[in-house]
Amino acid sequence: MLDREKASGIVAEYKQEHIMKYFDELNEEEKEELLKQIEITDFSVLSNLDGNKENIARGTFEPLGAVTIDDISANSSEYIAIGTEAIKAGKAAAVLLAGGQGTRLGFDKPKGMFKIGVEQELYIFQCLINNLMDVVKLTGTWIPLYIMTSEKNNKDTIDFFEEKNYFGYAPEYIRFFIQDMAPSVDFDGKILMESRSKISVSPNGNGGWFSSLVRAGLLNDIRSKGVEWINVFAVDNVLQRICDPSFIGAVIKSGLQSGSKVVSKAAPEEKVGVLCLEDGKPSIVEYYEMTDEMRTLVNEKGELAYKYGVILNYLFNVAKLEEICDQKLPVHIVDKKIPFMDEEGNYIIPTSPNGHKFETLVLDMVHMQDSCLAYEVIREKEFAPVKNATGVDSVDSARELLKANGIKI
Ligand code: UTP
Repeated sequence: MLDREKASGIVAEYKQEHIMKYFDELNEEEKEELLKQIEITDFSVLSNLDGNKENIARGTFEPLGAVTIDDISANSSEYIAIGTEAIKAGKAAAVLLAGGQGTRLGFDKPKGMFKIGVEQELYIFQCLINNLMDVVKLTGTWIPLYIMTSEKNNKDTIDFFEEKNYFGYAPEYIRFFIQDMAPSVDFDGKILMESRSKISVSPNGNGGWFSSLVRAGLLNDIRSKGVEWINVFAVDNVLQRICDPSFIGAVIKSGLQSGSKVVSKAAPEEKVGVLCLEDGKPSIVEYYEMTDEMRTLVNEKGELAYKYGVILNYLFNVAKLEEICDQKLPVHIVDKKIPFMDEEGNYIIPTSPNGHKFETLVLDMVHMQDSCLAYEVIREKEFAPVKNATGVDSVDSARELLKANGIKI
């Protein structure tokens, strides 16, 4: 382990000397805790603060078409047959991204533990398991489910699943793994402290899911089961269809390397990332990166050219994931509310964003694919995100959508 001198050298190199400010006042256990944390913290992410805030140069964008809702309904039986065959052959698995902190919701437990039911005991995790169970029943096949958590919510998540008997899922098909953490900084780039002996760290984004899964030793599990396709999805969309046979079938039929579920944008200014081409490869352009011209451009059919918004439901091919596993993803700098210890030693829980976190994003993996099928779904049937407590993409709107889909809440 590091000694005091080496640790001081590291923090000085990154101009973060304040981390060691109270070192000599700490007891032995706290000293050890801080030294260990300095040893494992990836300080190199701080270099992303230099220069361009996003630090990500973009190429030339072009629109990308989709298999539309009409195309899908015309080919539905064929897609479902192909997808069902793949699932029955054990070729599909699902990865639930549940390592986020859900700060916008403001719920102090893992987001999946939030009770979305009003009269029923229905939790977000339970909605997702119920949705996956639909496919298990349809195909007569248990689908391996890998759940990514973070150090902050791993225990709560596992305990919850155990307490609820995995909501009827077969526990031997569920595996948990923990993602990496990154230090958080204030708006001046100074690393925030949680206490005198603890650096403030937070989950480093959902982009590292595959490398974390590999590090957890789960690639052997995936290989031994013969899994070829992984459906990655977010915890917060309670209408999420998981390992949807039609989606899997459409991607396999298309011969493309990956797939993304998309919804038609409701309006040009809707704040959603759009699947398109960037320098000829699939990519997601964020709403704030689009020019007015891109936002409003129409195609020969009179529809928005950049029309298909992503909903964080992707299908990746395992062979390609293994190939790109060591490639570096761009680091995004996001503003968040980060609890911290102030100069006087008080623990503060901020009410508005007070610093940056460093995150890699799964959507950047799409650009590492040679091709991607945009698969259009009906928004009202498949997209009910729980991001906020009230208002847009909230508990309230998700409850309405669940009811509209006949789900008892
Ligand atoms: P969000 O972008 O909504 O982030 O995550 P968040 O941290 O959960 O919520 P806010 O922004 O603080 O309110 C999209 C998906 O990615 C997962 C989340 O759990 C969610 O399923 N995620 C996010 C991770 O698994 N790890 C992360 O580090 C961040």
